[in-house]
Amino acid sequence: MEETRINLSEKEMPRQWYNIQPDLPKPLSPPLHPGTKQPLGPQDLAPIFPMGLIEQEMSQQRWIDIPEEVLSIYKLWRPTPLCRARRLEEALKTPARIYYKNESVSPAGSHKPNTAVAQAYYNKKEGVKRMTTETGAGQWGSALAFACNLFGLECQVYMVKVSFQQKPYRRMLMETWGAAVTPSPSDKTDAGRSILAKDLNSPGSLGIAISEAVEDAVKRDDSRYSLGSVLNHVILHQTIVGLETRAQLKKIGVDPDILIGCVGGGSNFSGFCFPFFPEKKQGKKIRFIAVEPTACPTLTKGLYRYDYGDTAQIAPIVKMYTLGHNFVPAGIHAGGLRYHGDAPLLCLLYDEGLVEAVAYTQNPVFEAAMLFARTEGTIPAPETAHAIRAAIDEALKCKEKKEEKVIVFNFSGHGHFDMSAYDAFLSKKLEDYEHPEEKIKEALKHLPQV
Ligand SMILES: Cc1ncc(COP(=O)(O)O)c(C=O)c1O
Repeated sequence: MEETRINLSEKEMPRQWYNIQPDLPKPLSPPLHPGTKQPLGPQDLAPIFPMGLIEQEMSQQRWIDIPEEVLSIYKLWRPTPLCRARRLEEALKTPARIYYKNESVSPAGSHKPNTAVAQAYYNKKEGVKRMTTETGAGQWGSALAFACNLFGLECQVYMVKVSFQQKPYRRMLMETWGAAVTPSPSDKTDAGRSILAKDLNSPGSLGIAISEAVEDAVKRDDSRYSLGSVLNHVILHQTIVGLETRAQLKKIGVDPDILIGCVGGGSNFSGFCFPFFPEKKQGKKIRFIAVEPTACPTLTKGLYRYDYGDTAQIAPIVKMYTLGHNFVPAGIHAGGLRYHGDAPLLCLLYDEGLVEAVAYTQNPVFEAAMLFARTEGTIPAPETAHAIRAAIDEALKCKEKKEEKVIVFNFSGHGHFDMSAYDAFLSKKLEDYEHPEEKIKEALKHLPQV
């Protein structure tokens, strides 16, 4: 019988990241300067990011070596296991085979350290002393706190206020790894102060927290900003997930039919799926399903337009599916899925019809999370539970049609710090929220004219 956990040895861990840019069906539209609205050059990005990452952002090289120092830290938890969810299959009585790539085994509990470690490395290499960032649920902030600590860098995290209040243990985790954590909007930055002047009780959003973190970094010579998703270099670092998954499936001679991931900014989904694109391009029938919340339906209801990456319009303007940079989503528990845009790379592939998208409300997502926890054991992060919901629905379709498909999803993180969300679900207090069409239309009126 096939093993439950398909492992790779350290020696089998990929030594290069995969860059999808040379394999895209058409080139990406260039990012634009938020002031001049002209295409950005590397020098425009230099006050924000180190050059090593700017080069990766624009690189057309298909394979990029993973530095030895990064590989050595990856080995603390990588390669991660690919697991067969046999008990879930049995509970569903489906003929489908379900596998999940378990990224929850990292020290911070998610896929996020894959890029945090790489970003801290390139910053350290170029003499940066301090990194700033935003965080939603706290997963990204804790990953960067962990990485900065290993490289002896200071770390300043702006945490979306609603999550800061809902998830005190994530803050404590970041502080344990030595980071300073500030609820956003804060009075530490012009961007934060201007939001507070309009609404003292603003719950915050990723867009606002990004504005604060970028402003903080560009005002200090010793600091650079770090983004945990959306950008090309972040997705590049996350391809280690898909590359390992491909090697693991090959090891057991299994071909995937459907790959599934949840989408906040698009990094875990893209890092997991992109290494399979060359096969799809060659004609293999693989479906890629991106899963988002109905409270933040970027792909399923947004427009494919140029928009600012942040609320205060300091970050670059990029072409992406967007709900508008002023969008403030409801305080759903999947805090990491509440960004108004998505990665330009993912948006291009979605627009070309190479990726599908579905959206779910909170209750069916938590029903899926409960079933997973009670069959497979690990408690999923609310973000991850979106991918599980879609995997279960695909497995149920297989049951109906008596099809033996292979479904593989990315288990992007555990939910050990999200138990208040489970508590709300168990006490039937979770609300199903669909972002109203009028609000979407209103936010989309404020897209930049380019
Ligand atoms: C566990 C987990 N999964 C998924 C996401 C969504 O981010 P992304 O789309 O960049 O993978 C987050 C974001 O915080 C997360 O914490």
